[in-house]
Amino acid sequence: MGCGRFAQARQSRKLAEGFKLRRINEVANWGREWQKGGDWSSHSSSQEQARSLVPAYLRFVRMMCGDKPVRAQASGLDIGAGAGCIAAALASFGGLQMTASEWNEDGIKLINRENPGLPTRMVDLMSFDDRDKWDFILCRELYPFTRTNAFSDQADMVSRAIDALAPGGVFMLIGSTVSFPHCADYDLLIRSFRKDARVQGVRGPFLEAVLLRFKLYAIFGRPGYKLANALAKMVIPLIKGRRWAAVGVTVFQKRNG
Ligand SMILES: C[S@@+](CC[C@H](N)C(=O)[O-])C[C@H]1O[C@@H](n2cnc3c(N)ncnc32)[C@H](O)[C@@H]1O
Repeated sequence: MGCGRFAQARQSRKLAEGFKLRRINEVANWGREWQKGGDWSSHSSSQEQARSLVPAYLRFVRMMCGDKPVRAQASGLDIGAGAGCIAAALASFGGLQMTASEWNEDGIKLINRENPGLPTRMVDLMSFDDRDKWDFILCRELYPFTRTNAFSDQADMVSRAIDALAPGGVFMLIGSTVSFPHCADYDLLIRSFRKDARVQGVRGPFLEAVLLRFKLYAIFGRPGYKLANALAKMVIPLIKGRRWAAVGVTVFQKRNG
């Protein structure tokens, strides 16, 4: 075999390694170091980021699902809240009664350190089993969605979140394609839950980047918003190049009883 063939074989072995399936338990364990007191700012949204994201999320939910799930005093749970800045902003901008959750003690301590006064709770989404309780549940950039493609486990987690919603409540799933192909197949999840009898509607994925500019499209209502999303999905990758990671936002609304 010539040198070129060796190099080729090495290259395809490397590629195959890259596509090896990451197990869901393995990726869910990530994050312990920065939660223990390291620099969390590149793993979890800061207060400043939360201040621009949260008004955009609230506008989006109101436009797609109505006011009820995010009205003042609605009960909200942020699962995998990181430092808790988004949950804190939902409480202060939207008046929601937010609980920030993490799945281990270090994570809870980090929330308490960065956002003291915010109610916390230990929740592992993989075994979460609340029923008909929350008006609004948020999961943003959870590793079990963003760092592996494990459809059955991911569908199970979405299903648990839907069970935990009060009638008419909304589950907002925000996830990037940063580790593509190691990320959820969001389109397949959406197609599957559109057939679910518990669910009134599923909308998404909308680009977070579009949500942030939503005020511009608000006058055109939902159709303008959908058009902007479709255009952005075509144009942004051309501008940013192939390594661009989309952050998609999807809302699942539970039936009203
Ligand atoms: C990248 S951080 C995102 C933090 C925050 N949601 C944000 O967007 O700023 C991912 C978080 O998911 C949490 N996580 C991972 N697996 C989880 C699970 N099974 N249940 C709940 N949270 C989990 C991690 O502890 C980590 O804080």
